[in-house]
This record gives sequence, structure tokens and C-alpha cells, in this order.
Amino acid sequence: MNGKNHKNGNFSSTIGFIIACVGSAVGLGNIWMFPYRLGEYGGAAFLIPYLLFVFLFGWVGLSAEFAIGRRAGTGTVGAYRYCFASRGKEKAGKVLGWFPLLGSLGIAIGYSIVLGWVLRTLFGAVWGTLFEADPAAFFAEAAGAFGSVPWHLLIVAGVTVILVTGVTKGIEKASKVMMPLFFVLFVVVAVRVAFLPGASEGYEFLFVPKWEKLLQADTWVMAMGQAFFSLSITGSGMIVYGAYLGEDADIPKASVRTAVFDTLAALLSGLAIMPAVFAFGIDAGSGPSLIFVTLPEVFRQMPGGRLIAVFFFISVIFAGVTSLINMFEAVIESWQTQFGASRKKAALLCGGITFLAGLFLEKESSAGAWLDMVSIGIVPAGAVLGAVSVYYVLGYPKIREELEKGHGKKLNRAFGIAAKYVYVPVTVLVLVLGFLYGGIG
Ligand code: ALA
Repeated sequence: MNGKNHKNGNFSSTIGFIIACVGSAVGLGNIWMFPYRLGEYGGAAFLIPYLLFVFLFGWVGLSAEFAIGRRAGTGTVGAYRYCFASRGKEKAGKVLGWFPLLGSLGIAIGYSIVLGWVLRTLFGAVWGTLFEADPAAFFAEAAGAFGSVPWHLLIVAGVTVILVTGVTKGIEKASKVMMPLFFVLFVVVAVRVAFLPGASEGYEFLFVPKWEKLLQADTWVMAMGQAFFSLSITGSGMIVYGAYLGEDADIPKASVRTAVFDTLAALLSGLAIMPAVFAFGIDAGSGPSLIFVTLPEVFRQMPGGRLIAVFFFISVIFAGVTSLINMFEAVIESWQTQFGASRKKAALLCGGITFLAGLFLEKESSAGAWLDMVSIGIVPAGAVLGAVSVYYVLGYPKIREELEKGHGKKLNRAFGIAAKYVYVPVTVLVLVLGFLYGGIG
């Protein structure tokens, strides 16, 4: 690709970049949150606010993060420094930039614990031990204090090794393998599940529109939070991927494509999960209990369920690891550029801190409280900081110039209006409502 060369390397093509970004966006949020929210908050009717928010956040939100990364030629901390330097306040930007980075590290700590549980459950399915005992008991053991140490370590070590290899060989290659496989395996699960007697109730739950839900504020709030978290808008991770993007890439187009694939993955998760849960008459819920207790129970009762369980948990690992890679990369790049650390050192340090801090949070209640604290407080605050820094501190004219590179024409006037007067206030709303509701993402 043309343009600035980052010392960590660049994505080899726009497609490679989009796949990596889809990898970041598609994660546990799509799998354990979206299907339940879709059904609970109105079925097909929920898609109206959801798609509206996904479009807004994809179009002007992701674009902002990618563009500032590319313009500054560096990741999180350096990008804030760049924005504030344009106002003669470089130091303030450098200090503020550490805050969203803390969000990336904080989420990585919690996320790797959950992926440790997933890996343990995957092997439980492979060996059959998951189905011998009660899945709830299996999960209670996995998510007890120090309950999944080796699995947790394997996840962190695996991600660290991928990242030491660099952007093209590590991030891009891993995403190019894992993301297509995620889609293929989830399609296989969704097709198998479609043949279960009673699956149709699941489709009804997901898609029969309950229009009255559109009149309830909660529906809109949950759609907004879901779209926000799902697209990984954190004022951090997507910035660093932007820094590795060539100048000939069309950022607004790539942003919308990322949002489209993220939405397809969320819908596919709904199709893979809910019909199965309904076919066995089990109460659908969301969060850890859905994937660690409800679904293993479903797989246990389903003919051929063991193989489907293996496919399912491999896909969850792929979705989660490609998100974790992005969180780690944000931290690693900033440590490299701000402290002059080598990539290897920064990656090992990031892995070490993530694992050691997470070790004491492995218990389900601790991991949950930690993830809530980071996802309600730090991450949305980082996203607000990102949005304000790009569209107001650096200012729209400069970022428009960046967005028009590779776009081939002038940006639509609506873009600036949506960015400055809709997107930025909405990010503040996500932060405030997250506190009021005790979490919306
Ligand atoms: N966006 C990622 C998810 O949905 C982090 O889990």
C-alpha cells in the first residue's frame, strides 16, 4: 500500500485492514449479548434503531479513529498528542492519551480471562468432560478463583506470540485465517440448528417484530450501547489499526464495510444460538450463563451436539482472540513509540501484565465486576475523548482532508454535520446512560 510506513509494518491491502478491523469488532458482544437483545427488545423492530446507530458509529465514528491514526502515523497516545499539538497543547494530549489506552489494557485483562474459560470449555467439549457433569458445575469450576490458570495463560501467550510477529505477518495473517473460519463454522452451526424440531420458536423470538418496543426508551438505549461496544469504538484500538493503513485506502468506505460485517456476524450469532436454545425449551439469557451453561446443556441434548459444540467454541475463540489482538496492539504500539521499547519487549510486558493482573480476577464475580468497571467507566470516556479530540480539538477541516485521501471525491456535507453535532453528543450520551443503567454495552 502507498503512504507512510509505520516501523511495525503496514496492512498489505485494504481488504487485510478490513478483516483485521472486523476481527476487532466481532467479539463476545456479538455472541453473548446481541442475540438476546435482538429478541428481548423488539425482534426485527430492534434492528431499526440498531442499524441506525451502527451506521452512524461506523460511518463517522470508526472513520474518525482510523483517520486520526493514519494522519498522526501512530497509535493511541501519539494520536492524542498530535491532535492537541495542533492547539499548542502537545503535553496535555500526551497525558490524556494514556486514559483510553488504560481502557484497552483494562478490557484486555477481563477479556483474556473470559477467553480462558472458553478455551477450557472447548477442550471440555473435545474430551467430552463438559457433557459428563452438569455444565453449570463445569463452569463453576472453570470460573472459580484461579480456576482456569493454564487456559488463561495459553490465551495470553498465544496472542503475545502473534503480536511479536508484527502487523502483516501477525495481525493480518491471524485475522485472515480466523475471521473467515469464524463465519464458516457459525454458518455450519446455524444450519445444523435449523433442523432441530422447535427451532422456529427461536426465529420468532429473534425476528417477529414487536413494534411497541420502539416506543420504549430502553430499546433505543440498548441498541445504542450494543452498536457502540460492538464496533470497538474506544478512542484507542481502532486508532492504531488506522496508523497501519496506506494513504490510498478509502476510510469512510472501509469503516462502513467493517460495520456491515460486524452486523452480519451478530445476526449469524442469533441464528446459531437462539433457535437451538428455544428448541430445547431452555430459558434464553445473555452473558456468561448463555454460552457457558445454557448452550452446553443444549449441545448435550442435541444429536451430534458434541461436534457442534467444538465448532461453536472454536468460533468464539477466533472472535475473541482477534478482538484481544487489537486491544494488545494499542498498548504495545504506544509503549514502543512513547518509551522507545522494542516490539518484543512491549508485547511481553503487555502479555505479562494482562496475565498477572487477570490471575487475581479469574473468579466470575471478580471478572464481571472488573469488566463492568472498565466498560461502563473507562472505555466510553475514552471514546468521548477520542471523538472530541478528532472532531473538535484537531478540528473537522483537517480530518476531512485525511478522509478525502483515497476517497476519490469530496466528503458529503452531511458527514461533518453527523460527526460534530450527532456523533460527538451521542458518545457523551453513551457514557452517561452507561452509568445510569449500570451498563449498556
Ligand atoms: N467489539 C468487541 C466485542 O463485541 C470488543 O466483543
